[in-house]
Amino acid sequence: MAVCSSGSEPSGSIGKGWIVHSLLIGAAVAAAAVAAHGGFFRRLLWRGGYRSRVVGIIPARFASSRFQGKPLVHILGKPMIQRTWERAKMASTLDHVVVATDDETIAKCCRGFGADVVMTSEACKNGTERCNEALEKLGKDYDVVVNIQGDEPLIDPEIIDGIVKSLQESPDAVFSTAVTSLKPDDGTDPNRVKCIVDNNGYAIYFSRGLIPYNKSGKVNPQFPYLLHLGIQSFDAKFLKIYPKLAPTPLQLEEDLEQLKVLENGYKMKVIKVDHDAHGVDIPEDVEKIEALMRERNIS
Ligand SMILES: *[C@@H]1O[C@H](CO)[C@@H](O)[C@H](O)[C@H]1NC(C)=O
Ligand SMILES: *[C@@H]1O[C@H](CO)[C@@H](O)[C@H](O)[C@H]1NC(C)=O
Repeated sequence: MAVCSSGSEPSGSIGKGWIVHSLLIGAAVAAAAVAAHGGFFRRLLWRGGYRSRVVGIIPARFASSRFQGKPLVHILGKPMIQRTWERAKMASTLDHVVVATDDETIAKCCRGFGADVVMTSEACKNGTERCNEALEKLGKDYDVVVNIQGDEPLIDPEIIDGIVKSLQESPDAVFSTAVTSLKPDDGTDPNRVKCIVDNNGYAIYFSRGLIPYNKSGKVNPQFPYLLHLGIQSFDAKFLKIYPKLAPTPLQLEEDLEQLKVLENGYKMKVIKVDHDAHGVDIPEDVEKIEALMRERNIS
């Protein structure tokens, strides 16, 4: 499918051909065909079906230092986790969407709106571990696992499909993720993770610092810096070994887990998407996102 190869960007300095256009008609048509004919068409489309079985996992924990019970907070009258789940269900590449949680209240809420839930242990230290445990508990053979952050209630289904397809189209990659344009004002914010990629859209590095660095010492307003979005998809076999790989120096220094992938020499595919990140990290973010949804008539 041509989703990732038909783009051209005004700025010639980032690679062409790895940009997902959110609203590509061809993709919509193909997605409709897959939706209508299920496994049969999917097998045809992916010729032999390599890495064709895809599960989306939404890790959700109750305890959080900054925002207790965050997945259940209501956003315009609906729990945030439900909004994320509804978006994920619209992604055409996912065979199955599950919520992975350690908390009975979250599980109950999710079953209430129709989600499949996998209970995971409270000992999971991060979303990746939770996804890995959920995958084991599901007991089915999946080729690709998408880690869908529960705190991005406005996640675009096209972004989910974009990272899945980019992984399927890049057999040498074990991991895929998405970036969007960084606002120059966010250039020096260590909570905004920057990314640089090679000409083929493979990640070179991620940093909390400004990359690339301009010798003026300032953010260059002309440079198309890339902001990393939290969503990730993994090759399922890689996900099994990922948590077991020992921490690496750059990962520890930057406190960025995904660096472990690069430091071990694995390849990571990155797609560029149009997306305003509207993550909910602290209680104050709820009002911001509600204001935005009202403004854009999202109910
Ligand atoms: C650095 O940034 C300035 C704008 O602030 C830009 O004109 C220049 O091309 C950039 N690169 C170098 C190598 O100076
Ligand atoms: C998650 O936590 C485990 C255990 O502390 C660690 O080994 C692993 O690197 C972490 N995973 C990520 C993706 O950081």
